[in-house]
Amino acid sequence: MIRRLLRRKHLDPLPAGDLPPLARDRLAKIWRGGANDGWDPVQVIDKIVAEHGPLSAEAPEALGILLSLALWESAAAWEISARLAVDLPAIEARLAVTAQAHDEARHVMLLKETLERLGQPVSTPPPAALRVIQQVHRTRDPSRALTGLHLMLEPTALTFYRLMQSKAVSPGLVALFRTLEDTEVRHISVGLGILPDRVRGLSRVRKADLAAWQLRLFLTEMRGLKQLEPHVRALGFQPMEVLRLGHSKQLFVVDLLTRDLGDPVVASRLFNRAVELRRALDWEADGDAARTLTNALKRALAPEEPAHTGPLPW
Ligand SMILES: [Fe+2]
Repeated sequence: MIRRLLRRKHLDPLPAGDLPPLARDRLAKIWRGGANDGWDPVQVIDKIVAEHGPLSAEAPEALGILLSLALWESAAAWEISARLAVDLPAIEARLAVTAQAHDEARHVMLLKETLERLGQPVSTPPPAALRVIQQVHRTRDPSRALTGLHLMLEPTALTFYRLMQSKAVSPGLVALFRTLEDTEVRHISVGLGILPDRVRGLSRVRKADLAAWQLRLFLTEMRGLKQLEPHVRALGFQPMEVLRLGHSKQLFVVDLLTRDLGDPVVASRLFNRAVELRRALDWEADGDAARTLTNALKRALAPEEPAHTGPLPW
């Protein structure tokens, strides 16, 4: 980041960027919301514990592993949003991601404190889940960073916090997950405020490249879910439930990216087929590899109605 700053010829204190007025207003509003919501993580937990009693869960080890994953995701999101505050060309976009960087720092400290109070260590995520976070963290392309962070990692975190509120956890944890969920909705709004205009300005080759990158990321995310399966089940989730919710959110981005790439229906169908194939190979292996592969291919190649995202699911 410092090298990039030094390479600049001059500092532009009020960059106008290339966003339309409506998007700029929306992003400035998100920044104001974040700036007015400066909560202290430890105080939030103390208040919740005073109101609802100590934090506890029926499967603390499994919860610890998933909360550790959320902590890794927040730590990556903190750095990515701070980087975007330098890289994005419009001042309102920079303001919105700056507010997000503050939120992510709070999330890291909130999750660290929660794990401590549950008596659980901060563990390293399973390899595929870690790879997804690392790929988004490593990219220096702002379009990939926005797609990977705001419309893939954040919706996954949101799905987890939302689902956890109906599971076997103490009322204090439910209140905590609600706090986290509210902030994640704001973060997704940042991506939705910047990405559509940015994507419209990309060449068709760049759009195709971004769509392919997103598909690879989603397939790796599915491997990550498979590796997390025992912990997901221990918490009372059906892994397919998580996958279905996650998938519906990813399709919004596919739709956005493929609108100008020839036939968007064919593009989103290809995305669905690839996902279906991966799902069958990961989740339906019954010892007969040849039969699993044949069945998976049959289903992936069968005619189907094109899926459509419809209204945003959050
Ligand atoms: Fe976030």
